[in-house]
Order: sequence, then C-alpha cells, then structure tokens
Amino acid sequence: MKPILEVKNLNVDLKLGKNISKIVRDSSFEVYPGECLGILGESGSGKSMTVKSILGLLDGHFTVSGEARFNGRDLLLEKGETLRRMRGKEISMVLQNPMTCFDPLFRIGDQIRETFRTHTELGRKEIYGRSIEILELMRIRNPEEVMRKYPHQLSGGMLQRVMIGIAVAMQPSLIIADEPTTAIDAITQKEILDEFIRIKGEYNTAMIFISHDLGAISRVADRIIVMNKGRVVDRGTFRQIVDEAKDPYTRLLIEKRKAVMGQYVRVLGNKEVEYA
Ligand SMILES: Nc1ncnc2c1ncn2[C@@H]1O[C@H](COP(=O)(O)OP(=O)(O)O)[C@@H](O)[C@H]1O
Ligand SMILES: [Mg+2]
Repeated sequence: MKPILEVKNLNVDLKLGKNISKIVRDSSFEVYPGECLGILGESGSGKSMTVKSILGLLDGHFTVSGEARFNGRDLLLEKGETLRRMRGKEISMVLQNPMTCFDPLFRIGDQIRETFRTHTELGRKEIYGRSIEILELMRIRNPEEVMRKYPHQLSGGMLQRVMIGIAVAMQPSLIIADEPTTAIDAITQKEILDEFIRIKGEYNTAMIFISHDLGAISRVADRIIVMNKGRVVDRGTFRQIVDEAKDPYTRLLIEKRKAVMGQYVRVLGNKEVEYA
C-alpha cells in the first residue's frame, strides 16, 4: 500500500536577524490510508511546525526543505494558492483552540456554509441540509439552534465538535488534529477523543493526531513518532514505544505517565489499569 503522505528529510529553519534556529531537523515519516499516526512530544518539540510547514502555513521567516508527498505530489513545491485550496478539502485540520478558529462576528451556521461554498458547488438549501447533517453526525442534539448561535455562546467542547464536523464533511483524505483535546476539560476531552476513534472506524480517513499526552495518543494512534527538539527520536506502535523505546527522552515521557498511572493504581487498588 502506498502512503497518503510521505515526508522525507523535512527541515524547518527560522531566520531572525543573523540567527538561524533549527526548528525541525531531518524528520521523516509516512501516513497510510485508514491509519492514524500519532505525533508525541512535549511543548516546543516541533510538532505543530512539522505540520504547518507541510501545509504551507509558515511565513517568510521560515525556510523549509525536504519532501512532503501527498498522494504523490510534493506539497513543498506547490504554490500558496494550490495549498490554500487543498486545505479544508483534501487535507483538513482540527486545531487546539476552537475559539480562535471561528470568527466571533458570525453565526456558526454561516461559518459552516462558508466552508461548503468555498469547496463545493452545492446550493443554499443543500448546504443547509448538509450542515444539519454534520452537526447531527457529531451528536449535537439541537442542530438548528446551534447553527443560529455565535461562537461565544457555545462551550469549547461543543465548538470542537463543530470543527471536527466541518473537517469530516469535506471527506478529506487526511485529517490533521493538532492537540484537539488540550484546551478543553477532562470529561469533554474523553468525548472528543471518542469522536476521533469513531471517525477513524467509520470513514477510514488517514489521520495525524498530535498530542503531548501519551494517554490520549495511545487511544487513537496506530503508530507513533516521538519528537524532541525538532527531531524524530523514536517510532513504533504504542506497545513498542512503551516496551522498547531506547531514547532517554521517550523513556522520560513514559516514566512520567507511568508515575501518574501508578497513583491511580494505588488509589483504585486495580492492577490492570490501561494507559488510556
Ligand atoms: N512564530 C514563531 N517564532 C519563533 N519561534 C517559533 C515560532 N513558532 C514556534 N517557534 C519555536 O519553534 C519550536 C517548535 O514549536 P512548535 O512546533 O509550535 O512546538 P509544539 O507544537 O511541539 O509545541 C519551539 O521551540 C518554538 O519556540
Ligand atoms: Mg503545538
């Protein structure tokens, strides 16, 4: 099987005055159809920059080199306009803070409609129907009402559901979720995570799921790469990472997680607690 996305020797440099800092170093990975690749790493390790560079979202201060083949086409060679059209349609993103992704001045329904208008030929009525449908798919109980609301009138978890709904609606071949559960409370986090697990099962969409949380990643990702200071330092399935990772940084992430789980185990008196 051919990968949907094949990244080879990706480097991202940032030039500020005379200083050049290396943000992503020689990073290579691939994502196959129907698979979820987890990118794990602490804050500042270069996870977001990796995907932003691939999608052409970095400004002129950054230099990007290497290859990022999406269905065979090297995205790093594509024009800004081509990438802009691909984003939201062939590759869609779900970001950490849903509040910043919606325009506070427009109702939710208008913003969903705008996505359909940009990427499809559907008429007004069809768009309304599809909008209701995607909200229902995301298990939003009162879709008509939600469509009339402004972003600030919805909770973070609810906005995140809407954003995931929009991301899925265009039937992209790749969904990139960058810390989609970080900015919301723990209970909603679990629900949103379940939503991703469901999407993976139902749509067979390839996915990149970025998180600093080993527990969250372990639940959705089929394979994981671990990043530290801009480099990929480990790769494998969750089990391989937990059992075999040799990189000291990866071990540290695992031990930290185990320490937290150890506390649960002691409190609950249950020896068979999963990482998730
Ligand atoms: N706009 C920017 N200007 C300067 N440095 C940046 C900028 N964005 C990110 N960085 C630096 O790039 C590195 C990687 O950032 P990022 O990819 O956002 O990390 P992560 O997503 O893993 O938390 C960090 O060290 C950060 O300080
Ligand atoms: Mg980030």
